[in-house]
Amino acid sequence: MKFFVDTAEVSEIRALAEAGLVDGVTTNPSLIAKSGRNMAEVIAEICAITPGPVSAEVTATDFETMLAEGRYLRGIAKNVAVKVPLTEAGLRTCRVLAGEGTPVNVTLCFSPAQALLAAKAGAAFISPFVGRLDDISTDGMSLIADIVQIYRNYPALKTEVLVASVRHPIHLVQAAKLGAHVATLPPQVIRQLLKHPLTDSGLAAFLADWKKTGQSIL
Ligand code: E4P
Repeated sequence: MKFFVDTAEVSEIRALAEAGLVDGVTTNPSLIAKSGRNMAEVIAEICAITPGPVSAEVTATDFETMLAEGRYLRGIAKNVAVKVPLTEAGLRTCRVLAGEGTPVNVTLCFSPAQALLAAKAGAAFISPFVGRLDDISTDGMSLIADIVQIYRNYPALKTEVLVASVRHPIHLVQAAKLGAHVATLPPQVIRQLLKHPLTDSGLAAFLADWKKTGQSIL
C-alpha cells in the first residue's frame, strides 16, 4: 500500500520524505490556502522533494477552463497528477487529460457509482472521502469496500483506490485490510502510525538496563 501525505506544508513533506514515509502527495485548494503560498511555487517545490505523484487540483468548474488549468498544472512538473472534481465537466476533463498521458486524480467521491464513472473516464486515482462520510453518520469504510470489489470485478479498470479524508490510524488499517492501493494521510496521522505505548515503555526499559552494564557500543 502506498502512503501519500495530504498537505501543502513543504517542511512537513520534506521531513516525512527523508524518513522514507512518503510515496506521493495530495493537495487541494483548502490546503493551498492554509499554506498561504502561491500554488504554482508550492507545487513545484513539493514535486522536487518527492518523485511520486503530487496531486494539484483545478479550481474551474467548466470543461474548457478546467482542461486549460489541468494542462497548466501538469506543465509545472512531470510528476504532477491533475486533480478534478467528480462532476460531468471533471470527468470530461479527466478523459482528455488521461488521453494525453496525464495521470488524473478524481476527487470528492462519495458513492460507488461515482467511482465506476471515474474509472471509465480513465482516472489514475479515485479519491473517496471516508472521514467526511463518517462525519454525517455514514460508514465511510463501506464505500472503500464497495469500490475495491467493483474494480476487482473488472480487471480492465486500472484506477487505483486512493483513500482520502483519513482521520486516524484505524481508517488506514481498515483500508489496507480491504486492499485499497493508496491512502493519503495528514502528517499527524502518519506520525500516529508510529506510536505505541508498549514500544515507548519497552525501549525505556531496555535503555535503563543497558545503562546498568556500563557498556557503550561505539
Ligand atoms: C484528498 O485528497 C483531500 O485533500 C483530503 O483527504 C480531504 O480531507 P478532509 O476531509 O480532512 O478535508
